[in-house]
Amino acid sequence: MNAVRHICVCAALAALLASGCGAPHGQPNKGSEVVAPNEVLEFRTLYADNCAGCHGADGRGGAAIALANPVYLAIADDAAIRKAVANGVPGTAMPAFATSAGGLLTDAQIDVLTNDIRARFCRKRRRERRTLDQIKRNNCRNGGSSDSGVGMMGNVDTKN
Ligand code: HEC
Repeated sequence: MNAVRHICVCAALAALLASGCGAPHGQPNKGSEVVAPNEVLEFRTLYADNCAGCHGADGRGGAAIALANPVYLAIADDAAIRKAVANGVPGTAMPAFATSAGGLLTDAQIDVLTNDIRARFCRKRRRERRTLDQIKRNNCRNGGSSDSGVGMMGNVDTKN
């Protein structure tokens, strides 16, 4: 009897271990197994596997800041986003993802993430928030800075 129970417990544990944690970082989702992890260049897969756990399924935030925040996207330029993803943010839970920094993502994958965070998350917010003025929208898409002629603080939306 004891032996039987022991086997049951082991089987249950094995099942838990096998199913508990979903796809590990950098691994493909179900249905995309034919693609090697370091060849995945689809934003949705990369984001879901590596980022959503902390930043929320659609960039709305969770354990970490919301990336789909037009104020954040207006202020952060692509270089800053890329650097955070590649090298992590020291002193925070934000891990380094570049292979050169011990992570699992290639430069090409980090490029996809950097570009598409802005493209996708800006678009989403634009549709929902018609009150955003043109300058804010442009900055969200183009990255903070430069040619709008408006200082950064001019773009801060206190509602977020
Ligand atoms: C283990 C949790 C975790 C994971 C996984 C994670 N992040 Fe983060 N990330 C954080 C935290 C925490 C911060 C906030 C750091 C800070 O306080 O500035 C952050 C910050 C950032 C920032 C902003 C850095 C800045 O302040 O300019 C970007 C961009 C970012 N993450 C992108 C990503 C992307 C893309 C992924 C997936 C490849 C990802 N993160 C995965 C926790 C995580």
